[in-house]
Amino acid sequence: MSHDDFPTDHPAVVTCGLPYANGDLHIGHLRTYVGGDVFSRALDRLGQETAFVSGSDMHGTPVAVNAEKEGVSPESFALDWHETYAETFPKFNVEFDNYGHTHDETNTETTQGLVRDLADGGHLYEKEIMVAYDPVDDQYLPDRYVEGTCPYCGAHARGDECDEGCQRHLEPGEVEDPVSTITGNPAEYRERTHKFFEVSAFADYLSEFLDRLEGTSNARNQPREWIDQGLQDWCITRDMDWGIDYPGENPQDLVLYVWVDAPIEYISSTKQFSERVGADAFDWEAAWKEGAHDAHPEGGEIIHVIGRDIIQHHTIFWPAMLEATDHAEPRAVMASGFVTLGGKGFSTSRDRAVWADEYLEEGFHPDPLRYYLATNGGFQQDVDFSWEKFADRVNTELVGTVGNFLYRSLLFAHRNYDEAPIAEATSDEVEGRIDEAIADVEAAVNDYSVRALGDAVTDLARFGNEYIQRSEPWKLVDDEPEEAAQVIHDCVAVAKAIAVLFEPIAPEKCERLWDQLGEDGSVHEVTVEAAREGPAGDLAEPTELFAQIEDERVEALNEKLESRVAEAEAGDGGDADDGEDGDATDGDHDDTDDMTDIEPLSDDRIGFDQFQELDIRVGRIEEAEGIEGADDLLKLRVDLGAETRTIVAGLKRLHDVDDLPDTKVIVLANMEKAELFGVESNGMVLAAGEEADLLTTYEDAAPGTKVK
Ligand code: MSP
Ligand code: ZN
Repeated sequence: MSHDDFPTDHPAVVTCGLPYANGDLHIGHLRTYVGGDVFSRALDRLGQETAFVSGSDMHGTPVAVNAEKEGVSPESFALDWHETYAETFPKFNVEFDNYGHTHDETNTETTQGLVRDLADGGHLYEKEIMVAYDPVDDQYLPDRYVEGTCPYCGAHARGDECDEGCQRHLEPGEVEDPVSTITGNPAEYRERTHKFFEVSAFADYLSEFLDRLEGTSNARNQPREWIDQGLQDWCITRDMDWGIDYPGENPQDLVLYVWVDAPIEYISSTKQFSERVGADAFDWEAAWKEGAHDAHPEGGEIIHVIGRDIIQHHTIFWPAMLEATDHAEPRAVMASGFVTLGGKGFSTSRDRAVWADEYLEEGFHPDPLRYYLATNGGFQQDVDFSWEKFADRVNTELVGTVGNFLYRSLLFAHRNYDEAPIAEATSDEVEGRIDEAIADVEAAVNDYSVRALGDAVTDLARFGNEYIQRSEPWKLVDDEPEEAAQVIHDCVAVAKAIAVLFEPIAPEKCERLWDQLGEDGSVHEVTVEAAREGPAGDLAEPTELFAQIEDERVEALNEKLESRVAEAEAGDGGDADDGEDGDATDGDHDDTDDMTDIEPLSDDRIGFDQFQELDIRVGRIEEAEGIEGADDLLKLRVDLGAETRTIVAGLKRLHDVDDLPDTKVIVLANMEKAELFGVESNGMVLAAGEEADLLTTYEDAAPGTKVK
């Protein structure tokens, strides 16, 4: 790793968190894969030597339990999903240089080698611990095989995590009244000997490492707290058949914990890439090993792109493993916020999600989704998905700004000149503006901001629109042909710069644009320098790159999604939120409590005008009653001074219905109307957090009073 600005002369490896091979991918997952792909393409465009790798996570109880429920072997179950993922990613233009899986030979060997090195280095020790065991079925019950009661808060909990209560990570042996999730049999605790990795010995190293670590700030701040609280050593073996065998003496037939072999796939996948293209083209050892390369003995630039639920694994366990075995340390961790629906996590089991397949089946092109996922909010902010917001970004920015500029300028150029270069050189003003856009892109990469990458291009297109508007070439064509030619040349130059600089976000659309510009080769092969070179080819007849999404379409999509979300709510039963984000918290994760962490404050400033669009009023609840079929929802009658409105609010499980009448509340009065379980809701009652703590007034403002 170096701390030089990108591009550096070291090889870079961009990795994405491996998806568990256990179910469909949703657009929440895609946010991290698109983020990684955009970042790795942007490095390519800057001329940085880069490998972009990932693979399927085949092991662990998230896979084994699902396979067992389907009555198939974990291997064939996981392989099927692996193949599906390998086909799905390219459909979103997520093009890994290598996509392997954790169960293949390369990863098995690399993992066992690395664990042997840990043992040889004296970093492992044995300890007796209690593990859950099903006496009837004669099987041990690690992690998600067991559920019971959380010893800290009394909530129903999984073996490894209090997922419905306090969110604590639970060590083997902690869950009370254990029951097998497979058979429902009561479990007992048995003593077993397991292997531990002395993570606690690396506390000082990890503190220093975090001071050097680049990427998003959440990936530094959360782990600093964990270190301050004192690091625990880490149990790295499990009583399971499915997994990679613990190498060396192994009388109990233990396999390695899934979180040992999963990140090692980052190395294995890079190794496979090197083996395929040759070490001259990409040398995995130079990237991953300390001392493998004279010019950069500290290794290459390792950049991990993940979701925020797995920060601990990537900033504590993994760097400790790398440090203990003389591997390069990660230069950056980019941890994305979660994609949510209606403020709640996706839930695979409840079908509360927008599925990757579903998006494509609706007939949408992948690039607009890439744009939306990459640029909606800062990378570490949670993003609540809605078709309206998606359509709005597509219509105003992709169609209205970028597409509009490209189409109007290329059409005009094609009609009047049909070949480039039209003038001798790009004007100073436009050349300067293109340089500025390139500098913005370089800064965005060095800030690890995929959003800023998008902004660099939309800003450039905005300039293009303003330039063509102010220069009015259509008025010049007849009388001032040379001036007109200069303007058109400049516009085609801006279009070419957009093709190059927007390639990371919209690769397929930009390749088409490259063809329309009559450029040779592929835009995926050029560097940002090409954006400075000015137009070269014969222009082809342009077509519009991005399609408008009509309001009726949005309405239809919304209806589908809302009824599905309402069903998911109805199916939530009496429990608290059932494993929010199936794939994030259902994972076999050692999370402490990051699901309850405070979200970073938004960088997205809004103007006072925008705030004034919100009509926020004081209200008084007059009546509150349940709604048939809805477990969460209450139908409220709320006095808003000028009128009394019906408002549906998700308060039922959290508040005593009889206590609500006469309570002062704060209401967003101009919220769009929505129909929920047949009741039309006309406004939104504001509340804080998961517990729906109702906002109220400090003194006695009357119903109808405006909040400003
Ligand atoms: N297998 C582990 C990762 C091992 S990495 C060595 C895992 N798998 S997962 O399938 O649950 O998640 C895959 C990736 O998607 C992770 O980076 C995870 O953080 C991310 N996300 C899962 N749900 C997400 C959202 N709803 N929103 C954003 N990212 C999400 O974790
Ligand atoms: Zn708990």
